[in-house]
Amino acid sequence: MVVCDVRKLSGALKSVLILAAVSFVFFRVTSAIAQPSLNVGPNACAECHKTETANWKTTTHFSTFRAMPRSKEAKAISKKMKIKRVKSESQCLDCHFTSQIVKNKPKPVSGISCESCHSAGKNWLKIHSEFSGKKKETESKAEAAARWKKAEANGMIRPKALYTLAKNCYSCHVVPKEKLVNVGGHPAGSAFELVSWSQGEVRHNTWYSKTNNPASANRKRMMYVVGLAVELETALRAVGKATEKQAYAIKMARRAAAARKKLTSVAKALPEAAEFVEIIKASKSAKLKLNNDAALSAAADKVAMATLGVVGKYDGSSFGAVDKMIPGSDKYKGKPSQ
Ligand code: HEC
Ligand code: HEC
Ligand code: HEC
Ligand code: HEC
Repeated sequence: MVVCDVRKLSGALKSVLILAAVSFVFFRVTSAIAQPSLNVGPNACAECHKTETANWKTTTHFSTFRAMPRSKEAKAISKKMKIKRVKSESQCLDCHFTSQIVKNKPKPVSGISCESCHSAGKNWLKIHSEFSGKKKETESKAEAAARWKKAEANGMIRPKALYTLAKNCYSCHVVPKEKLVNVGGHPAGSAFELVSWSQGEVRHNTWYSKTNNPASANRKRMMYVVGLAVELETALRAVGKATEKQAYAIKMARRAAAARKKLTSVAKALPEAAEFVEIIKASKSAKLKLNNDAALSAAADKVAMATLGVVGKYDGSSFGAVDKMIPGSDKYKGKPSQ
């Protein structure tokens, strides 16, 4: 669904937007997190990505596989939701596990793994890793670019695709499930922020460099502003699902309002980037109230379009004025492994 008039835009920006809009529509329908029939499992990635796998094994995303179902909290939620077994419960699988199809049924094979974030690998694994059927040294730049394009067309989420990457984190870390929160007592999502939550224990920048370097200053700026915009978009959609004046509705509305407030500071700091004013305006086009799904979804679509404008146009180099807002390394979630 294209929500802005692309005919009025210049050629280059147009193709960026159309491409992005396609993947964005895709992500509203099937988020990358729930495609058990296309998952190859983390052991398949580990064949080549040894260091990234070793890093992942130190994270909460890995250890939750065994820890969560046994926890007191899980038992309490299951009881209230009348769930017998967390690991065979589709309401829990999508966010807490990576599943593969075994005997015609999704079976969890690990916690939140490579494919939870880079998307299910079956259709792009060979493409991304085979240097267009040549040796690395003989593949031309154009061939490499075509290879990556093909991998992305087959679902791969590359770290470069910041909007999609962020959207995927938020699809789990905001919990847009009214019953799970109001009846089950499940947390209404995490106090998530993209820089601090990606640069701690999750960080595994160890493929293209020997040391696990943090993201560059420009990338952190982009992560910070895009993360906030995706938070706002996701929260607007989540409020849209609210039907009763209980914890869920209240927490999701607070989340939307808080993200908007932070983006207002971003817009003030970056007056030359009109997209942020547009994001705030779009988010105010629907009231944060119960049973308002259509209007809130339309507002979220407009926020998404403006956010795609940000990732299509900027690289962070002109965003120095937000540096003081970005959480420093003392705020990173968990320790990055070396
Ligand atoms: C057969 C070896 C192999 C396997 C298996 C493999 N990869 Fe890769 N991967 C590579 C190679 C080679 C590259 C770098 C290609 C290049 O330099 O152009 C890469 C790069 C990547 C990148 C970085 C992409 C970028 O934008 O630069 C990600 C992310 C990634 N792989 C994820 C995965 C995931 C997830 C799996 C499992 C589903 C996986 N890989 C399985 C070989 C492999
Ligand atoms: C939309 C995604 C989503 C769904 C669906 C979901 N969870 Fe969660 N869950 C999360 C997130 C994100 C957290 C971490 C919240 C935080 O940061 O405090 C979490 C935290 C938890 C925790 C606390 C952490 C721990 O290890 O004890 C438990 C227990 C839990 N979930 C159980 C469940 C159960 C049981 C179900 C199914 C009935 C379920 N969740 C469905 C996303 C989800
Ligand atoms: C929680 C989500 C998440 C999980 C799980 C995850 N990744 Fe990533 N991956 C990312 C993000 C985010 C980046 C970019 C980080 C940055 O820019 O600082 C990244 C970057 C990468 C890169 C590029 C590294 C470089 O040197 O630039 C590779 C390769 C990769 N991931 C492979 C994997 C593999 C293999 C697994 C499983 C063992 C995995 N990832 C698990 C989110 C994830
Ligand atoms: C498939 C769903 C899913 C995706 C995608 C996902 N997460 Fe998570 N993440 C969770 C759940 C669930 C937990 C809580 C697990 C628990 O406590 O047992 C969690 C926990 C974490 C933690 C540990 C939090 C703590 O309290 O210590 C960090 C950090 C984190 N996620 C960062 C990220 C980042 C960054 C991304 C995107 C690049 C991401 N996650 C993508 C589901 C997900």
